Amino acid sequence: MPKVTYIEHGGASHEAEIAVGENVMRGALYNNVPGIAGECGGALSCATCRCFVDDAWVARVGGPATHEERELLEAAASLDTDEGPARRNVRLSCQISMTDDLDGLVVRLPAKQYA
Ligand code: FES
Repeated sequence: MPKVTYIEHGGASHEAEIAVGENVMRGALYNNVPGIAGECGGALSCATCRCFVDDAWVARVGGPATHEERELLEAAASLDTDEGPARRNVRLSCQISMTDDLDGLVVRLPAKQYA
């Protein structure tokens, strides 16, 4: 199975295997990775699954694909004021579906998922 490395805001790193077709948010929850809440279960209504895709992976992951994802990310942007340059690569992890091509994906987690 492809692997994802989650890096907490404080620097702690967690590697998890995630089945192809599963999303990065659920991969975090199934593997007890702190820092992703996924409150709506991936229904595109909470933005508590934000992550910052590592620069090396942005092209492969792609940008926000839907109007709904972009709107949620904009609404939550005020929570990420201390993320610096990583902020430009923000995504909702529930919208990143695992493929074999994403084996080795690195995502960083924000300081907080809630106001
Ligand atoms: S889990 Fe709610 S928007 Fe991703």
